[in-house]
Amino acid sequence: MLDYVAPPVGGGDPVPDAEMTVAAVPTTAGTGSESSPAAVISLPDRELKVGISSRHLYPDLAVVDPLLTVSLPPAVTAASGMDALTHAVEAYTTRRFDAKPVPETAADRPDYGGRTAVTDMYAERAIELVGGSLRRAVNNGEDVDARRDMSLGSLLAGMAFTNAGLGATHAMAYPVAGENHTPHGVTVAALLPSVMRYNAPTAFDRYGRIAEILGESVDGVADREKGERAASAVERLADDVGIPPGLTELGVEESDVPRLAEKTEEIQRLLVGNPRRVDREDLEGIFRDALRR
Ligand SMILES: [Fe+2]
Repeated sequence: MLDYVAPPVGGGDPVPDAEMTVAAVPTTAGTGSESSPAAVISLPDRELKVGISSRHLYPDLAVVDPLLTVSLPPAVTAASGMDALTHAVEAYTTRRFDAKPVPETAADRPDYGGRTAVTDMYAERAIELVGGSLRRAVNNGEDVDARRDMSLGSLLAGMAFTNAGLGATHAMAYPVAGENHTPHGVTVAALLPSVMRYNAPTAFDRYGRIAEILGESVDGVADREKGERAASAVERLADDVGIPPGLTELGVEESDVPRLAEKTEEIQRLLVGNPRRVDREDLEGIFRDALRR
């Protein structure tokens, strides 16, 4: 399998078409793997998690059955649910499709091709479903209505980000999780509000819309306040489902920031989708903001 992981960890070979049916049966509601070309594997001896991405990994069949998630413990429900929310928010605010290089043919069209009116639709609905049902799914795992909303929300968020792309939150989360062994959903939830505050000036109306979908009124609110409302609505949701606020509680310290920013800068695959340009110094600033929360 390591042959197909990107260098320097693996050999970087393209995944061959194995001509087998890929069937995905999610037992959590969060990753969106049932609609994405990505697979993540753990390498415990190297304390690393790495991804493999290929068109051949798109499931031919996905069985998204919320009943398979009713026995998920609250902490896993909360973390995976915040991952789904992060997928939706990042897909909704990533660069637009026409701000990315135009492919020569449809076959050259990359995954993560930028947001469109269609991916917006999936993302908005996913934010609504997760924002409206995650608390209930965490409080009572057997609330099947809440579980159904979460499974659907996760699927739609997966369809949104697979087509649109992600942003700085996911890029920054990889080095943090690699060093501190924190669950992916917990890590992105700790970073997302700070990234939203940084990105908000690029599209205040989009952030106002996210705030509204999460139940915040933005009537008559000044533009610069809209990003703040959206970020604090996300913080409240994370807080209500027991996710630690900010990076300090995940074991990250001030002295880690320059190294984490340096490692994040290498993840251009995700950073190119971030709506606002980020250099090393910007990343350090966002990490520090997430530490203080
Ligand atoms: Fe994720």
